[in-house]
Order: sequence, then C-alpha cells, then structure tokens
Amino acid sequence: MAVREILKMGDPRLLRLAQLVTDFDTDELHLLVSDLLDTMHAANGAGLAAPQIGVDLQLVVFGTGEPNPRYPEAPPVPRTVLVNPVITPLPNLVDGNLLEVSDWEGCLSVPGLRAIVPRFERIRYTGFDPFGDPIDRTVDGFHARVVQHECDHLIGMLYPMRVRDFSRFGFTSVLFPGLDAPEDD
Ligand code: NI
Repeated sequence: MAVREILKMGDPRLLRLAQLVTDFDTDELHLLVSDLLDTMHAANGAGLAAPQIGVDLQLVVFGTGEPNPRYPEAPPVPRTVLVNPVITPLPNLVDGNLLEVSDWEGCLSVPGLRAIVPRFERIRYTGFDPFGDPIDRTVDGFHARVVQHECDHLIGMLYPMRVRDFSRFGFTSVLFPGLDAPEDD
C-alpha cells in the first residue's frame, strides 16, 4: 500500500493505449489496486486510472460512496475497481437519441485547471472486478461522466482533448474564486 506519484499532462505514458489485464486475483493486481485507491484518496480525487501512476494496464478506480459536493442531489458513486472496461453509450429515455451533456471537469494529471467537457448522459459499462467477477451497470449523470473520464485515460485521452469551447477552459482559482477547489477527477 502506497501513495504513488501522479503523472502530469505532457508525460508520454499518459498517451498510450493501455494493455488488457490477463491475470486476475493475483497479489500483483491487488497491490496495484490498493496503490491506486491510496493515491486517489490522498489526492481527494473522484477517480484514478492506472496509466496516471505509470502502469500500462486497463484498470480504473472511482467513486467514494459519499455524496459529491458538486452534485449534492445525485446518488453517490459506489467505490468501484473496474478492469478491462467497455463503455456503450445509450439513448436517452425521452426521445431515443444519444444525449450529450456538458459540465465542469478536472483531472489530477492536469492540476489547477477546469473545463466544460461534453459526455454521453447515459451509458452502460461492463468489465471485471480484480477477482475476475463481471461488472455490468447502466448509469447516468455524474456517475456516467466519471466513468467516461477515467476510461478515456486507458486510450490516451485527457479531458482537454475533449474540450470544444475553449472559452470555458481555465484555472480553477480564477473560475471559482473563493471556493475550496472542487475535487479533481
Ligand atoms: Ni483524469
């Protein structure tokens, strides 16, 4: 168990296509999960992906099980360890179209900054827990946003690459003066 260094944007290791995890329920994998969770909690993050600590594997952790101060009315995101994830965008229930929603995001690999980022409003995600048991959830809102952000790290995508309106990209201290910095994703 250890808090690991979080790589920052510009490091080429954040741009790789991460490798599939092939061996489940190993000491090595459980140690990696424990380091990811320790590092996420130490940084007060909403999620963390293995590439952010320099590990080239398809593994993300997210969720604290606590209400998020930015989305106080949203159900808390359960603490989740997700291996080899696959995301499927789902049509919204009103008109059957894929709906995108835009909201503020930050990233522990892009410290001090925030931007408005479009994401699918509703998704299904599948994958495995570290023991190899399947995970299959349909989620929306903040939960869906966090999963999309974290899984982007597994394909070398950082949220600034998703920004469309650069007039809404800036320093947290300027965008939200007087506030404690909201959590980074
Ligand atoms: Ni991030």
